[in-house]
Amino acid sequence: MQLLNGKETSQAIKDSLKLEVAQLATHGAPVPHLVAVLVGNNGASETYVANKVKSCQEVGFKSTLIRLEEEITELKLLEIIRDLNTDPEVDGILVQLPLPAHISPQEVINTIDPSKDVDGFHPINVGRMVLGQSTFLPATPYGIMLLLEHYKVETAGKHAVIIGRSNIVGRPMSVLLSGSGNPGNCTVTICHSGTKNLADFCRSADILVAALGRPGFVKEDMVKEGAVVIDVGITRIEDASKKSGYRISGDVDFPAVSPKCSFITPVPGGVGPMTIAALLKNTYKACAMKHF
Ligand code: GUN
Repeated sequence: MQLLNGKETSQAIKDSLKLEVAQLATHGAPVPHLVAVLVGNNGASETYVANKVKSCQEVGFKSTLIRLEEEITELKLLEIIRDLNTDPEVDGILVQLPLPAHISPQEVINTIDPSKDVDGFHPINVGRMVLGQSTFLPATPYGIMLLLEHYKVETAGKHAVIIGRSNIVGRPMSVLLSGSGNPGNCTVTICHSGTKNLADFCRSADILVAALGRPGFVKEDMVKEGAVVIDVGITRIEDASKKSGYRISGDVDFPAVSPKCSFITPVPGGVGPMTIAALLKNTYKACAMKHF
């Protein structure tokens, strides 16, 4: 069993972006600028956004965090996004999800200029991804593809089973793994809450992507010997012995499942850091598309 070390791989990507940005700066080129918008006080979202902003600083990008109160109206939020769309100093815009219930995430996503949509959530960018055109790929599935690429995991002709059909992970993951690139060329099955005999599908997977957000859901008897297991889960579990008061749990029962795997991602230190690396690559691309 080999660990797919997202922390190390993400660091390697960040190191290379840092070099590229430093080279640009010596030619007087602008550095990429990411603006993250955080509405309300969701604890997990706060951590994710703080990590994104910190990582920008690490690689020499400019970053701005716009914090907005939970009660902000949708209209006002859309106005802020339109201002960011027309601001020539801004390359990438990210509105952290989930949003408060009174704000439509789709309205918000639709309002972001597709050329600044570094999350790859705008319908135009989703369409480009499905058509196999150059675009911003959603950060989590893109990060997983980068990780598979880094470890030269064979994917062509394999059966990939994805548990979860979210717009952020499951659906785009199915598009990328079934695409004609490398990694890719998989035969893909998407499982969800309406799937019958889910364990049977999982057992038939050469590559199993767990993205349903249920801690420890994937058990040993659901995984084939030699499978590649990608754990996208990041659920916070209360744990008084931790300084933060919680620990992070993945969707896979790691101690029981890992001995059966050819490759597996740990949680934490697997998919999470890769998501950030992918976002930084998208932000660099947004800047490069505008200026070069
Ligand atoms: N919430 C969970 N994942 C994501 C993501 O990739 N982007 C944004 N904007 N919000 C998220």
